[in-house]
Amino acid sequence: MFLKFVFLSFCFTSLIGVFGDEVKSVMEGDSVTLHTNITEIKRDDVIEWRFGRQTSTIAKIINGINQVSIYADVFDGRFRHRLQLNDQTGDLIITNITTQHNGDYKLTITSTTEISYRFNVIVYARLLVPVISRDCTQNSISSSSKCVLLCSVLNVRDVSLSWYKGNSLLSSISVSDLNIIIRLSLPLEVEYQDNNTYSCVLNNPITNQTQHLNITQLCQSCSECFCCCYGPEAVIRFVISALVGVATIAVLVYDIYDNSSKDKEKKRSQTPSGHH
Ligand SMILES: *[C@@H]1O[C@H](CO)[C@@H](O)[C@H](O)[C@H]1NC(C)=O
Ligand SMILES: *[C@@H]1O[C@H](CO)[C@@H](O)[C@H](O)[C@H]1NC(C)=O
Ligand SMILES: *[C@@H]1O[C@H](CO)[C@@H](O)[C@H](O)[C@H]1NC(C)=O
Ligand SMILES: *[C@@H]1O[C@H](CO)[C@@H](O)[C@H](O)[C@H]1NC(C)=O
Ligand SMILES: *[C@@H]1O[C@H](CO)[C@@H](O)[C@H](O)[C@H]1NC(C)=O
Repeated sequence: MFLKFVFLSFCFTSLIGVFGDEVKSVMEGDSVTLHTNITEIKRDDVIEWRFGRQTSTIAKIINGINQVSIYADVFDGRFRHRLQLNDQTGDLIITNITTQHNGDYKLTITSTTEISYRFNVIVYARLLVPVISRDCTQNSISSSSKCVLLCSVLNVRDVSLSWYKGNSLLSSISVSDLNIIIRLSLPLEVEYQDNNTYSCVLNNPITNQTQHLNITQLCQSCSECFCCCYGPEAVIRFVISALVGVATIAVLVYDIYDNSSKDKEKKRSQTPSGHH
């Protein structure tokens, strides 16, 4: 996926003197600085920053006429109040970044020659703490010494969700795609009397969130089992069993789109009745 992306970017490159991608990973809400590596702009230099596929100009310095411009209204104003341009170095600073600012930024430095650089900015959403609930569809009366739990997260992209027993990894599921998936769940089966400490960890490439499992609290008798708010159909669709070993699943883009849109429809129609 990434290789393909790099390849495509490369194909779109028509200028001579274009340098490869510099990748910047940043957390939503943080700031990122894209460096020109210039210590001082020369007298007649023109520094131009562009964004996106259409590569519209978002900031420009024409040093010869002392002009420093920020084009905050392009791209529906998504850069408004978020761009700063260092007039000594030409560095571009994007503050309070959001996922809308994810993408390619192109720097062109024109002096006697023209040189371009591309920056690939990847914005990661802040992660919510995953939720552990009992999976009632799996808790039949016959297997009363076992308790099946689900660790779930909503609206995630490019994450992995894992169960740990103490410090050792039990199972894991990954969505390595940059598209948003609506719900991701991972089951765990435990004995009621299990004394080990279990935790469910949600990771993206730059941060993580942990939820600790309290077996006594969640694995009550089945009458008190408050079912997860999703029917068996949804559970079958979204839960990919990984009870043994590590399962890393790269979900195809098409599958995600297909399932997410169906799930969205379902959610919408369920909304008025609220939670159980
Ligand atoms: C700036 O310098 C760094 C470190 O040498 C390099 O990786 C990067 O590509 C340079 N960026 C530009 C725009 O020249
Ligand atoms: C950052 O952006 C968010 C969403 O665009 C906005 O709600 C928030 O007020 C901004 N925060 C600051 C400190 O500008
Ligand atoms: C769990 O802990 C209790 C009390 O601390 C102990 O009696 C019991 O044997 C332990 N069970 C296991 C499976 O280790
Ligand atoms: C979670 O992040 C912290 C630091 O941010 C790191 O020390 C820890 O190893 C991470 N845990 C996992 C399971 O990735
Ligand atoms: C687990 O939940 C039980 C019942 O709600 C509570 O009494 C106990 O303190 C909790 N244990 C931990 C480690 O939080």
